[in-house]
Amino acid sequence: MLRRRIMRGASSAENWLARKIYRKYERILEAEISEKPLPEHVAIIMDGNRRYARLSRLSIAESYELGAKKTEEVIEWCFDLGIKQLTIYAFSAENFRRSDEEKAVLFNLICRKFYEIEKNKKIHEHEVRVKAIGNLKKLPEYVIDAIKRAERATEKYNRFKLFIAVAYSGRMEILDAARRIAEKVRRGEISPEEIDEDLISSHLYHNDGGGGRNSGNGGGKSERSEVKTSVDLIIRTGGEKRLSNFVPWQSLGNECAAYFCAPFWPCFRRIDLLRAIRTYQQREEERKMTEVGRILKVMRCFL
Ligand code: FPP
Ligand code: MG
Repeated sequence: MLRRRIMRGASSAENWLARKIYRKYERILEAEISEKPLPEHVAIIMDGNRRYARLSRLSIAESYELGAKKTEEVIEWCFDLGIKQLTIYAFSAENFRRSDEEKAVLFNLICRKFYEIEKNKKIHEHEVRVKAIGNLKKLPEYVIDAIKRAERATEKYNRFKLFIAVAYSGRMEILDAARRIAEKVRRGEISPEEIDEDLISSHLYHNDGGGGRNSGNGGGKSERSEVKTSVDLIIRTGGEKRLSNFVPWQSLGNECAAYFCAPFWPCFRRIDLLRAIRTYQQREEERKMTEVGRILKVMRCFL
């Protein structure tokens, strides 16, 4: 009895110490990253939810529930830190291959989250514009309805942009953009010479309400031009080092940093986000140094 009490006391003292160290480390990291430019657009692959369920003897539904709570926390961390745009991978085109039971769990959760967004105080307080990206036609009608309601309720906002990828495939997104551009060329609205990187970017889901909405125009300015299509930092949790068809156009060619970390999504911590941002800042510094080095080399040729 006494031995058990001593053990319990020791373990809670250890936890207390661990929390103290964690907080201190978090503050140091935060001070460090606050001195340098932040990534504007972060994209997250929230992986490892089922493995967390197995590890903690939870049902998959319970683990996804914790995952969704984590997503809400991370959105708040982004507000606090001053990140302006976040894209999260909630359901990939690949995920359609999962069992009906698992898909139902995910669709119900995603649907509920979109309904919550419509009424969420913090979403309105922080003026978050929420938009789903993906081949939305493939989703059940009840999920599409919930998405529409959340989008409509937040369409006037612009302070923070939250893109939720559902039924999303990066290749399909590029294919859809190519088809719609080709259609415009066929109608004589644009000439093939006008097709450049900006035009393709402006036809991606981030910019135009994309796949499956029949929204027509992909380019355009006004509200669309305020979206930063390119991604500065991709984070993947759960230990795998793959990008799984997530935002390929948006992350290539612009020196996007990638940060892979071990914790399963429900266990993702603020320090993981801060470390990811530090990795982005280090990449940016290295990139600038390489550019300076190149300029110096060229200059030396002329001296
Ligand atoms: C991958 O983990 C994650 C998903 C398929 C979905 C994650 C969705 C959420 C956490 C909720 C989204 C929240 C909002 C606001 C819509 P996995 O199933 O591949 O797990 P595993 O890698 O362990 O198999
Ligand atoms: Mg997975």
